[in-house]
Amino acid sequence: MRLAIAGLFVSLLSAAPKTTTPTYAADIARIVQSQCERCHRPGQIGPFPLTTYQEVKAFATEIKRVTAARTMPPWSAVPGHGEFRNERRLSDEQIATISAWVDAGAPLGDRGALPPPTRYNDDWAFGKPDLILAPDADFELAGSGVDEYRCFVLPSGIDEARYIQAMEVRPGNRKIVHHVRAFADTTGKARELDAADPKAGFDCGLAMAAPYKRLAIGGWAPGMIPDKHPDHTGTFLPGKSDIVMEVHYHRNGLKQLDRSALGIWLHRQKPANIQKSLLVANIGIRIPAGAERHEERARTIVPRDVLANSVMPHMHLLGVEMRVTATFPDGRVQDLVWAKPYDFNWQTSYRFKDPVPLPKGTRIDAVAVYNNSDSNPKNPNKVLKEVRWGEGTTEEMLVAFVGYIDAPVTQ
Ligand code: HEC
Repeated sequence: MRLAIAGLFVSLLSAAPKTTTPTYAADIARIVQSQCERCHRPGQIGPFPLTTYQEVKAFATEIKRVTAARTMPPWSAVPGHGEFRNERRLSDEQIATISAWVDAGAPLGDRGALPPPTRYNDDWAFGKPDLILAPDADFELAGSGVDEYRCFVLPSGIDEARYIQAMEVRPGNRKIVHHVRAFADTTGKARELDAADPKAGFDCGLAMAAPYKRLAIGGWAPGMIPDKHPDHTGTFLPGKSDIVMEVHYHRNGLKQLDRSALGIWLHRQKPANIQKSLLVANIGIRIPAGAERHEERARTIVPRDVLANSVMPHMHLLGVEMRVTATFPDGRVQDLVWAKPYDFNWQTSYRFKDPVPLPKGTRIDAVAVYNNSDSNPKNPNKVLKEVRWGEGTTEEMLVAFVGYIDAPVTQ
């Protein structure tokens, strides 16, 4: 009797999932539309489109593999260690649905259940920008070689200081544009570097450090949707500045042309809050040759009451993990982000769902893990060597940028 009951139980359990075979029309199309299409559609960075049943079915096996491994959609923040507005992550249930659909032979199902196609707004996100800036000429990128970082100098044409409410980056050629960062330069140095380089823009290496003083004002990474500060917050744009647009190019084997552009919306008046960034860095790092999991730390103390709104870990090719925590004056510890596995190619500014108040005296710790061994396929050093801080590809960094505004004075 006991055995019979156990047997019945087992057969009930194993029968359960078979009753609902997922179909493309009823289940998969919605997942792909919401999680994949913004990169995997024509003209975007994904290497192939995933917008129709035929396209998705053709890649079914790969899709099962990359979603199960969570390499797609690309997203490094470990769940449960911070909540982010720009999260790109499948639920366990969505992954299981994809897997069951592929195992069932990737059926289309009832066409009538298909969701309407997503309409993409290819106009500027917030109406016509106050400034639209682009280089005067295309930049030509050769098909092979290491990644290129190119800086284009775009005079703002504005004399007095202003405050940026939003910036939208328009990558020109998404086959090759991997990241864009924008800086303001008031020294004239970027202009000189540009003039000295015969091609459009100038080569600006794998750099955070630059041979001139510059102020970060925004950026773009694949899959990012333009974001706008609230009316009371803006990013400072000094008067008479040149905007330096740094483009990280990936090569795709063919000669390519690009002319990316920036759209900038300015506040009419100085907003109450200025967006700022706190740097948590350690320039003393030493990563021994061959170390598979070498840990380094950086910390800083928050100098006054602030409201943090984002965090961005930055390392180079040996970086595999970074965890950033806040230890409050009362001893409580909160994760800001835990990026694991960290991926240099998918660096992300993680935007907090709700601003995180960091009272004066809060300690921010960044704990980074590096793999400087042969088991790291991205290790740029063919002959293993100790690696220290530096801006080159074969050197490393340990930085967490914490974006914030000053906390409102309460009394
Ligand atoms: C943020 C942009 C982005 C999103 C979102 C995205 N992809 Fe990708 N995908 C890429 C890029 C870029 C590549 C090329 C490889 C790389 O750069 O990592 C890629 C590669 C792939 C590959 C080939 C992987 C391989 O190993 O060759 C598959 C399959 C794939 N994506 C499926 C998906 C699926 C399924 C989704 C949604 C669940 C998705 N992607 C979401 C950008 C994206």
